[in-house]
Amino acid sequence: MTIAAKLAAIRAAATAPENVPANRVFDLHWAMGSVANDLTDPYEPCRWLCGESVPRLLYNAALPSGEGEGVAGIGNGAWVVTHYEDIERVYTDNAHFSNDGAANFQALIGETFRSIPLGVDPPDHARYRQFLVPHFSPASINRLDAQIRAIAVEMIDSFVTTGEVDIAWDFGRVYPVRIFMNLMGFPEHMFEQFLDWEWDILHSNSRLKMAAALRDVLAFLRSFIAEKQRNPDATLVSKIVHGKISGRAVTDEEQIGIVWFLWLGGLDTVAATISQMFRRMALEPEIQRQIRNNPELVGSAVEEFLRTQPILSTSRTVTEDFEWHGIQLKQGDKVSCLNPAGNFDPDKFADAAKFDPSRRPNRHFTFVAGVHLCLGAPLARRELRILLDEWLKRVPEFRIKPGTDTTVFPGLLSIRNLPIVWDHSVISEGI
Ligand code: HEM
Repeated sequence: MTIAAKLAAIRAAATAPENVPANRVFDLHWAMGSVANDLTDPYEPCRWLCGESVPRLLYNAALPSGEGEGVAGIGNGAWVVTHYEDIERVYTDNAHFSNDGAANFQALIGETFRSIPLGVDPPDHARYRQFLVPHFSPASINRLDAQIRAIAVEMIDSFVTTGEVDIAWDFGRVYPVRIFMNLMGFPEHMFEQFLDWEWDILHSNSRLKMAAALRDVLAFLRSFIAEKQRNPDATLVSKIVHGKISGRAVTDEEQIGIVWFLWLGGLDTVAATISQMFRRMALEPEIQRQIRNNPELVGSAVEEFLRTQPILSTSRTVTEDFEWHGIQLKQGDKVSCLNPAGNFDPDKFADAAKFDPSRRPNRHFTFVAGVHLCLGAPLARRELRILLDEWLKRVPEFRIKPGTDTTVFPGLLSIRNLPIVWDHSVISEGI
């Protein structure tokens, strides 16, 4: 099918604002990670959207029913950019594209604090970033290295001799959250409760459930912050509460804004990435062999998993009327960056569709670009590298358990369950 035919096939019946030419209006909701598929590369359906003959600005029409509304604005109308250089401009041109008020889920229950640092624009953003970066820099993450490795090894050893694990539910969901909870100082017994709250906020698609979860989690975080105010300790929440931003104390609004957003960002992003990384390796054992035979590739292989499975596409708001690619953008318009298209742009990545564990350079958008580049990226990378390293030393070649449904959402929703199996009889002989 030609690109023109593909675009014609997804033309939306829905209406769009006046400044949107009718021939740019499409229904691109399927490309935002909310429609499952069973492909080895689940992001493959988005790839053609960065093709040369695809118009540089598409418009994703609002869903008529408001379906999906409230979850990262998925149901609302927005411009969509799909080419690498356009995505890069949106992330780096802060004069025209604002992130003010991003991830403002808390507004649903009348809260007025901002999600910090994501929902703050430059120049204020830099203050928060300078305050937080020391806790997430590669040097700080080095100090967590032994702890992360110990958790990875302990978890793998607990099931390696059984020859089977549900890599999504029993491993991916748990490993990064244990590390994150230790870092923040959250009590272990809150684990299941945290994940339930997060599910209701991000994925339930129900305003009632979102509101209830928001109330509960914010009440918990506020009482946790109050406890750290009274009893300082070595945890990150305590350091935030007792820290100084540009020489002054952190206000109550800032404390909850920071702790809340770290809570939201730190819970299931790495989990979704792990599930998809293992699904890909199980479906393509050649990738396992390549990395196992060349352990020095672990770092670049992790980067390639990140490039080929960008779990989030994010958006910005236009700050003033201006013309771009022959289109008049209006102040207040939303612009979504379709990272699953940009990460496969052939103008940027040679043989872009191929999974190449030795690809360098590999400047993808999975952690975006510009000032809001994911603060947790050094931690996420370290967790993934340590995991891959320790896993390949301990577990022989694995595959999906026969009969398993391998359907995946190419995004944050990802995979709930994914049993994988291996020949455990070879473990005692050493792999
Ligand atoms: C593979 C795992 C992860 C992915 C794919 C990911 C993805 C992202 C993306 C796409 C953004 C930018 C959103 C936007 O610009 O609208 C972001 C920002 C952010 N992420 Fe992550 N994230 C991951 C892990 C983490 C972890 C583990 C943490 C915390 C411990 C974290 C904390 C943050 C924070 C605080 C920001 C806001 C940065 C700023 O505005 O300056 N992330 N992340």
